[in-house]
Amino acid sequence: MTVAEPRFGSLLPDILASPPGGVSRSLAKRLKAVESRNITYVDSGWPIFWQEARGSNVRDVDGNVYIDLSGAFGVALIGHAHAGVVRALRVQGENLLHGMGDIHPPVGKVELIERLCGIAPWVGAQAVLTTSGSEAVEVALKTAQIATGKPGIVAFKGAYHGLTMGALAVTDRAHFRSYFEAQLYKGVAFVPFPGCNGISGVTADEALELLRTALRHGAPNGDPIGAVIIEPVQGRAGVRVPPDGFMAVLSDVAMEEGAIIIADEIFTGLGRCGSLLASEPLGLRPDIVCLGKVLGGGMPLSACLARQSIMCAWPQNDGEAIHTNTFLGHPLACATALAVLDIVEQHSIPECAEVVGSELLTELRGSLRDSDTVSEVRGCGLMIGIELVTAEGLPWKDGAVRVAEAALGHGLILLPAGEHGHVVELTPPVFLTGEQAAHSVAVLSSIIQKLH
Ligand SMILES: Cc1ncc(COP(=O)(O)O)c(C=O)c1O
Repeated sequence: MTVAEPRFGSLLPDILASPPGGVSRSLAKRLKAVESRNITYVDSGWPIFWQEARGSNVRDVDGNVYIDLSGAFGVALIGHAHAGVVRALRVQGENLLHGMGDIHPPVGKVELIERLCGIAPWVGAQAVLTTSGSEAVEVALKTAQIATGKPGIVAFKGAYHGLTMGALAVTDRAHFRSYFEAQLYKGVAFVPFPGCNGISGVTADEALELLRTALRHGAPNGDPIGAVIIEPVQGRAGVRVPPDGFMAVLSDVAMEEGAIIIADEIFTGLGRCGSLLASEPLGLRPDIVCLGKVLGGGMPLSACLARQSIMCAWPQNDGEAIHTNTFLGHPLACATALAVLDIVEQHSIPECAEVVGSELLTELRGSLRDSDTVSEVRGCGLMIGIELVTAEGLPWKDGAVRVAEAALGHGLILLPAGEHGHVVELTPPVFLTGEQAAHSVAVLSSIIQKLH
């Protein structure tokens, strides 16, 4: 009997040339000469240039094989280059590469929107397809304004909703905002996101009281507030999981005060957090839902879904849409998204994410329990954060950046999160093998124990 060799996708790391290898370094040099210096971070240990990716593996241009614990910004929940997605892309590419989204739409747009409305948390949903997560948020904010007539918004401290101007106005990180502050809408009241480990948290009750006050008194610029935008689990803020019951009471408060709720499920949605939408088990009852990342299976695609009664506030198209874009309903992205939705359903991806995620969480908690630098390992499905602190118990500034750099040298791709770069964020593919998971936990724990 022969034992099958593990295939690219389920391999352990194999580092042939200390990353970044020579080919990556020379590409970085070329890129640095021609790309805006703000875009790709380049230093002696960063970045590697990707050549190919499948399942949980990435191979770089120097032949190094990595385990992708980032899922490439959380996109690759069903793994890189899933065969079903690649097949859909190939078939679609041979027929129609580009359509005229809001004028003469490609057929896939109809099928995809029907499917998305089928998974929305309301009967009678309607949707707008968009291209990036930020654009889905723009459409959600525009929809809320049209539906409520109240421009003010409540967002949460630490929130990340994207970097286009409307989305940036509800994103709470000085790093992203400071140069553009003067151009950002001033009608946003930021309320604390509760309960994160005592470091920067307030209790759920305190947060809800502040929410109620903001909804009653209006935004800092005096505008009445029509909408609350929230991530069910804050991702980029450092995997901040809300306390039990918080989202349900938040929904009651918003309803009582006449505000609609936008759930930004761009990171959490489509199975990442162990359910199709993270809002549902958390008790959040949104009126608008934004999806992105996983949706396109690697193609740039996002969507804004809303209750029909809310979406109907948009005026009838009289010949020219007032929100659209050149690539709206792109046929390739619609085709891959339909394949993604099939895979998510047929392989019970949310349930798998719950099982794989809770095993990973338990393993990490066990192996890091004696580490003085780790204040908490937390998560929801396959979104896991390891929070690092100093000896004084303060967020360890750039601690997770150092972990990410060291991990790369050992063949693990991961990203830092949190305002202080102090949370190691893990959002791997659901098909991470047991062997890959065990190896990742061992390597990560050893890196974290040795740092300081
Ligand atoms: C919760 C959330 N909203 C919005 C966005 C913005 O998405 P994009 O980068 O596709 O514009 C992100 C991206 O990470 C996100 O995590």
